Amino acid sequence: MASELRAAVIGLGWAGQQHLKAYLALPRTTVTAIADPDPVLLGRIQQEYGIEQAFTDYREMLEWGEIDVVSVGTPNFAHAEPTIDALDHGMHVLVEKPLARTYAEGLRMVQAAERNDRVMQVMFNQRFRPDVQVVKRFIDDGGLGDVYHAKSRWLRRSGIPGRGRKWFVSKELSGGGPLIDLGVHMLDMALYAMGEPKVEAVSGASYNTLGQRFVTDMYGEDAVYEVEDFATAFIRVEGGRTLALEASWATYRENGDFINLMLYGDRGGAEMSTRNYQSQGAVRFYVDSGGVPAEVAPEVPASGSGIPGHQQATAIFIERVLGGEYAQHRGREGLLRTWIIDAIYHSASEGREIRLAELKDQA
Ligand SMILES: NC(=O)c1ccc[n+]([C@@H]2O[C@H](COP(=O)([O-])OP(=O)(O)OC[C@H]3O[C@@H](n4cnc5c(N)ncnc54)[C@H](O)[C@@H]3O)[C@@H](O)[C@H]2O)c1
Repeated sequence: MASELRAAVIGLGWAGQQHLKAYLALPRTTVTAIADPDPVLLGRIQQEYGIEQAFTDYREMLEWGEIDVVSVGTPNFAHAEPTIDALDHGMHVLVEKPLARTYAEGLRMVQAAERNDRVMQVMFNQRFRPDVQVVKRFIDDGGLGDVYHAKSRWLRRSGIPGRGRKWFVSKELSGGGPLIDLGVHMLDMALYAMGEPKVEAVSGASYNTLGQRFVTDMYGEDAVYEVEDFATAFIRVEGGRTLALEASWATYRENGDFINLMLYGDRGGAEMSTRNYQSQGAVRFYVDSGGVPAEVAPEVPASGSGIPGHQQATAIFIERVLGGEYAQHRGREGLLRTWIIDAIYHSASEGREIRLAELKDQA
């Protein structure tokens, strides 16, 4: 494997641009090409970052071929096709979250990574928040003992993704609402913190009560809000452990982005609670100190402005590609998250608990 990797990015909205910036900042990657069907956006990004090759059709870019690793930052409905194409061209893929809209779609992507023996990683940048990293270090150090319950939430009072990105509110194009969009990050964060326990069954409920008002304002009378605006789920993991998950784009509550992870263990508890992405002061540990209940406020490095983590996740992806051992990195972790989310939607519509194995039988 070459010591310098040639990277390309497909889909140049906010997410794709974060991948582009991450590759440009890494010492062992160069960006050789970009692709987006919007010629105006494509030309602007090409000029701004001085990228040599730009394509309105990603397939032509893959045929051109001077690429080792590809990022896929397209809308959810357009994750599978470019990912599978790139893997079949022998490239490694870093695809935006969620991996796919359904378990069956995600499985096809994993199978492509497996048959080509390539890395496929899903962009779970939120786990690299400085506050989550502090919690993770404390858990790995044994600070919580055995974690038997976690609660993981990302809630907005009014935060349906904005104008020009109408695909977010179409069930067919996005696969769902805040659960698949924000909830998948919180699911990732919790499973990562809990040490990747085996997930057995889910029970979920979803609501579409407020979303229509917002999309009528955003897109006019004809716009239809097809996805949930709030979802809640109860997830059973191995050994009787449990996880509670919530996500909303619209609920009557305080304004802003509220991200909250709570973990209860037999030696301690941890809470990460942040408003609008700020990490400082976001973490508390609850322990016994000298036989006395104590609350610890660890120092957490500032998160800087905006959504963190793309840089760290991209660096790990590149390390895995350069490492040359791909068997553990062919997208199974991302597939599990998509599988759980898909099962929660099934549970919500059928009104019953769903065992993950049931979806496997349908795929
Ligand atoms: N990890 C994060 O923090 C984060 C944040 C925002 C969005 N996302 C994810 O990133 C993805 C994109 O979200 P966004 O907000 O940037 O969307 P967006 O709609 O703003 O941008 C998507 C871009 O993809 C292009 N595109 C559409 N179909 C394409 C195709 N077939 N080939 C190539 N390009 C195509 C569009 O022209 C557009 O420029 C979604 O899956 C979303 O869930 C992740």
